[in-house]
Amino acid sequence: MAEKIKYMWWKNNIVYQIYPRSFQDSAETEFPNDGVGDIPGIISRLDKIKELGAGIIWLSPVYKSPDADNGYDISDYYSINPKFRTMADMEMLFCEANKRGIKIIMDLVINHTSDEHFWFQESRNPENPYRDFYIWQPGKTDKRGRRKPPNNWTGFFMGDTWEYDEKSGEYYLHLFDKKQPDLNYKNPKVIEEVKNILRFWLDKGASGFRCDVINIIYKTSLEDGRKSLSVQGLEHYKSQEGNHAVLRELRRDVLDKYDCFTVGETVFVDLEDARLLCGESRKELDMLFFFDHLEVDRVIARFIPKRFYACKLLEKMTKWQQGLDWNAVYLENHDQTRIVSHFGAAEKDRASDGKPGILWQRSAKMLALFQLTLRGTLFIYQGQEIGMTNFDFNSIDELDDVESHGLNKLMKKFLIPAFLRWKWIKASSRDNARTPMQWDDGDNAGFSKGKPWLGVNRNYKYINRALQKKILIPF
Ligand code: GLC
Repeated sequence: MAEKIKYMWWKNNIVYQIYPRSFQDSAETEFPNDGVGDIPGIISRLDKIKELGAGIIWLSPVYKSPDADNGYDISDYYSINPKFRTMADMEMLFCEANKRGIKIIMDLVINHTSDEHFWFQESRNPENPYRDFYIWQPGKTDKRGRRKPPNNWTGFFMGDTWEYDEKSGEYYLHLFDKKQPDLNYKNPKVIEEVKNILRFWLDKGASGFRCDVINIIYKTSLEDGRKSLSVQGLEHYKSQEGNHAVLRELRRDVLDKYDCFTVGETVFVDLEDARLLCGESRKELDMLFFFDHLEVDRVIARFIPKRFYACKLLEKMTKWQQGLDWNAVYLENHDQTRIVSHFGAAEKDRASDGKPGILWQRSAKMLALFQLTLRGTLFIYQGQEIGMTNFDFNSIDELDDVESHGLNKLMKKFLIPAFLRWKWIKASSRDNARTPMQWDDGDNAGFSKGKPWLGVNRNYKYINRALQKKILIPF
């Protein structure tokens, strides 16, 4: 019998990414005007998203979390962070979005959990059945008999990757913050738990998942890594055969039974990896985010700048456009700086009160046009549609980003002078993209009546949605 042809609606819709804590703070919650965006706030803005022409929302994590990495450290996959409100509100969001023909994909963060997750708490006891949910190792001793970590891996947040736990007498692996212990995908029980999480959210109404750092979940070995200035140890866990097998299993046992799609955030991915991770016949992911194009003017990942050449950007984009049948086309997200500041001229052309010049507008439109001409599913990050710019931070104390603080600490260790540290951090911090959404020229740009959790860009009187609806051609 002929196979049923599947309508891949995700190839025909624009995705709008919401970073909930910075999108809209509602006055009608248990924590009214607390300066943190919430789910009722999102519901109140759904019509605006519809107006943009988006058919899908990617929601950054809203699960219960101690927020060491703003929700990317989950302590309960089945409940909502009270800052964002309740499960009933989440159900309402699915329902209201559905009424408007908008689907929602959830952020699936399964490389690690929070150290406050029940599994990890249990796992700290070596006798407990949950022990094997995480990656515990006894560690080594140096020549002088002092304790040292099990291997030489370095982490994504510039700090250590192993934390010694007194209670256990062993180290646990954390490729990100020490509050984000890595799960052990050699344990089939972990995979079963993930399947339950997927089913839970799909049954609630989710239409798929954006899968966080999904090509590094399987650690083949814990041997020392090759010396590297970038993330050391990668060759033992990037896009491993075991990783592909987990993705295929999740797809076969759960995802294929629903009308949904997945987009993977795949770090350090090259074309060869990508073809394996999202080739249609492989049945792993539907599409993925690569990083090449955003790193053409950066030396080590996105931290140290080098000169930008537009031809390099075109070269990278052409490679990916020709190399894959279908791409996730994005220029911004909650981890990247604002594109109009990054590749555009927004930083060079603005008055002292933040008023942007004509080059800001031209760059924003040019970059939008560039993105819209590419083949693939279009991802727009909140605020990108109005050309929001990087934030004008004055000092490291104004930053919340755990990665920026890690970078600062590391650079201090290497005696990099303060002015250079600040220059690089300011230009690369993820908080540049996390400042509150600029809706109008009212209090805090219409985001909140209370003090926002992160500063509002002072250019909000000139760059905001309400103003652009009046005077500019809509995006
Ligand atoms: C991804 C997320 C980022 C997070 C990290 C660890 O890169 O996009 O925000 O810090 O994973 O979960």
